[in-house]
Amino acid sequence: MPPFPDANYGEPPPPQLVCVTGAGSFIGSWVVNELLLRGYRVRGTARDPGDSKNAHLLELQGAEEKLSLCRADIMDPESLRSAFSGCHGVFHVASPMSNDPELLAVAVDGTRNVMNAAADEGVCRVVLTSSYAAAHMDPNRSPDAVLDETCWSDYTFCKQTDNWYCCAKMMAEITATEEAAKLGLQLAVVLPCITMGPMLQQALNFSNLHIRRYLMGTKKTYPNAVAAYVDVRDVARAHVLAYERPGAGGRYLCVGAVLHRAQLVGMIKELFPQYPVTAKCDDEDGKPMARPYKFSNQRLKDLGLEFTPLEKSLYEAVICMQNKGHVPIIAKQPRANL
Ligand SMILES: NC(=O)c1ccc[n+]([C@@H]2O[C@H](COP(=O)([O-])OP(=O)(O)OC[C@H]3O[C@@H](n4cnc5c(N)ncnc54)[C@H](OP(=O)(O)O)[C@@H]3O)[C@@H](O)[C@H]2O)c1
Repeated sequence: MPPFPDANYGEPPPPQLVCVTGAGSFIGSWVVNELLLRGYRVRGTARDPGDSKNAHLLELQGAEEKLSLCRADIMDPESLRSAFSGCHGVFHVASPMSNDPELLAVAVDGTRNVMNAAADEGVCRVVLTSSYAAAHMDPNRSPDAVLDETCWSDYTFCKQTDNWYCCAKMMAEITATEEAAKLGLQLAVVLPCITMGPMLQQALNFSNLHIRRYLMGTKKTYPNAVAAYVDVRDVARAHVLAYERPGAGGRYLCVGAVLHRAQLVGMIKELFPQYPVTAKCDDEDGKPMARPYKFSNQRLKDLGLEFTPLEKSLYEAVICMQNKGHVPIIAKQPRANL
């Protein structure tokens, strides 16, 4: 596939109807927003569409004319079939954001139900939200190896270390791929890493809760650890590009940056020096600092995605938390005259 020059899409799509499962979620809301801006008619699913936690969706630009919400549970095939009826594409975002081993079956069986319901309803193309949790958790990957779409987490290691979320995302992705082949469905899979940035919904999501703990000084130390980060709007664009680009398919690793936690915390402190952000590592016994690993996001860049700098995601995430009342607004102290 030829690389595309920039993040702008090509011609607008015909006004297709597509469905987004878990529409009210942190990522799902931005996927819905991106689709509406692109001119799609969108049906969003939630287990309780009338719950006030989904109200923000109806405020999105274009929602009045082009968005409808419907009730569906990924464990209820009948509800999925009616949600997908008449849809050209399905974005399967919904999944329990939990490390509870009991919820592994919901992620995996739910994904199987989605694929089968999509095939039953004549859907052409499915985009699945997997996670880098399905790719990066491998203790035997060389520190010099590049994390890319060929990588898979080590299931046995994840199980032994109680990383049930990683197990669930791996098994769900494998299930989707097998079902797509069996049912003749086109499938593209987006693997976002820790997703940062402003929230469309009111409630705090996992990553913003994490940033809030550092900002408020409730997290007194940071771990000697490395992680990967990406902007939520890039994740949404990746889903739509993977859906629209002719010939797109397979896995797309969605990683913008890999940082040591000291760098992330330093960035927060630099942007918001007026908050009591810790500068203390919890691992001060002389252990070497964990090294950021290499990664490739070339497949998404080839689709035309331009990644947002992490500073911008962090800055806008904090401003959003201030505006929604999750973080008190503290004025920056003027610098003392020297
Ligand atoms: N956030 C991240 O950093 C990150 C990174 C990589 C991948 N992901 C993946 O991205 C997706 C969305 O994550 P998020 O952080 O945006 O999620 P979130 O805000 O925590 O919301 C989870 C969503 O899953 C839905 N859900 C859970 N169980 C369900 C069920 N049985 N039936 C129907 N819906 C169900 C919830 O629907 P209700 O509203 O009905 O409860 C909700 O919309 C997930 O697949 C997650 O694994 C997230």
